[in-house]
Amino acid sequence: MPKRNKILLSKQSRAPLFDTLLSHAQRDVVSFHCPGHKNGRSIDDSLKNYTGIEAFKFDVTVFDEVDSLHDPVGPIKRAQELMAEAYGVKQSFFLVNGTSVGNMAMFLSACSPGDSVIISRSSHKSVMAGIIMAGIWPIWIEPKIDQHLDIIFNSTYDQIKDALDKYPESKAVFITSPTYNGIVTELGRIIDLCHRRKKIVIVDEAHGAHLLFNKQLPKSAVEAGADLVVQSTHKILSAMSQGSVLHFNSQLIDINRVKKVVSMLQTTSPNYLILASLDLARRQAFLYGGKMFDGVIESCQSGRSFINKEIPNMKCFTREDIKQKGFDLDLTKLTVNVTKTGLSGYEIEDILAKKYNIQLDYADIFNLVAIAGIGTVQADTDAFTEALKDISKKYKGEQRNWILQIPSLATEMVLRPREVYLSNNTKRVFLKKAVGHIAAQTLTPYPPGIPVLIPGERITQEICDYLIEMSAKDIRISGQETEELKTIKVFTKI
Ligand SMILES: Cc1ncc(COP(=O)(O)O)c(C=O)c1O
Repeated sequence: MPKRNKILLSKQSRAPLFDTLLSHAQRDVVSFHCPGHKNGRSIDDSLKNYTGIEAFKFDVTVFDEVDSLHDPVGPIKRAQELMAEAYGVKQSFFLVNGTSVGNMAMFLSACSPGDSVIISRSSHKSVMAGIIMAGIWPIWIEPKIDQHLDIIFNSTYDQIKDALDKYPESKAVFITSPTYNGIVTELGRIIDLCHRRKKIVIVDEAHGAHLLFNKQLPKSAVEAGADLVVQSTHKILSAMSQGSVLHFNSQLIDINRVKKVVSMLQTTSPNYLILASLDLARRQAFLYGGKMFDGVIESCQSGRSFINKEIPNMKCFTREDIKQKGFDLDLTKLTVNVTKTGLSGYEIEDILAKKYNIQLDYADIFNLVAIAGIGTVQADTDAFTEALKDISKKYKGEQRNWILQIPSLATEMVLRPREVYLSNNTKRVFLKKAVGHIAAQTLTPYPPGIPVLIPGERITQEICDYLIEMSAKDIRISGQETEELKTIKVFTKI
């Protein structure tokens, strides 16, 4: 985090974009511009009666006073500069389509068609979109599965070093950190290694926009010196959904290319309420994040120890557990393993929502993931942990031997995903006869949510057997284009 001094604090107390929009809204300007609701006037009553009209006055279009996201010269430019200053990077770009668009932008900015990039297979689906759009060769790192904690770890230093040794021609390394479970990898060592070898490091830090603002939290990718980092400011900080930021801090990437790409991928009608919320989220995190996150961390730590002490058949791993495995933990995340209850995480998520009025962000067979944020208070954590205690007493499932596993991934890329994805030269073949063919679709079983096949990859016997077993169990696999998984789409010719 940049050193705090009076000048910086006073600069960071500003919110130029929010102030501009507020002043505009307060003047009730007659609107002959888009959008059609005209300062909220014609928003349907059923919504307006609940929300009020004022917030809709922020929903304007591009004109001089409020500036343009695509060619900022006024308040958006100043707000982005303050964002860059807060995170200590060269330049920051506001995004209105989340980290999903940021991931695509990072590949298109850092790579040219035909480049190869080292990537963990356990990446967000937008990473596949970036790979296809940029026309790169992915070099896959197989994710490490922990069958004790029932979670997946992200790429380690050793895995990345091995991949760099094996594929010295690779242009860049793509890392996701933290994971959904809040696990942070050894970014500092990885980035040093990559930069010594002149490799670009791009990081999906969707779940880490807050890390920089509290000393108890693990080091963020921007601090560790990554070239490009994208963060969902809306996930843990207080920006509105879709509000993300792409940070540029590179000597290896051309800034003008990043500008062009970000502009190419974004709407020309950005929602100014989202943009203003990015400006305010930055100010809030910079000025008060330390203290606010002390409170959030304290409440999560108390929740963690309550679960581990008071609920015998549930377990919430601690920072020490994760450090023993060579990673660090974002203390604001609670991953609760529920396998000993005999109920799946899905079932408990459903009970929490329907009987206790508590909605989680994510659950799978093994775990619940509770995502705290800058707005979380102790009473929320107490309600959650008390509900879990109650559930553990009232609901008894049958003990089942669920095992978190994936088949060994073939990862032999015959063609670039882009070539196959955009091609019409495909046909469907029976799964039993698919061995040796080149896959033309992505298939991702949940859990664990890792694609077992992607376009351009050679289909192996093991993957076929695995998919046949899944289809016999009636497990629906994401990417499946038919009701039953009896056939698979393959590539026919170049
Ligand atoms: C690791 C990771 N990357 C990217 C995304 C996409 O972020 P956004 O929802 O901001 O588009 C998510 C969403 O959950 C995510 O978990």
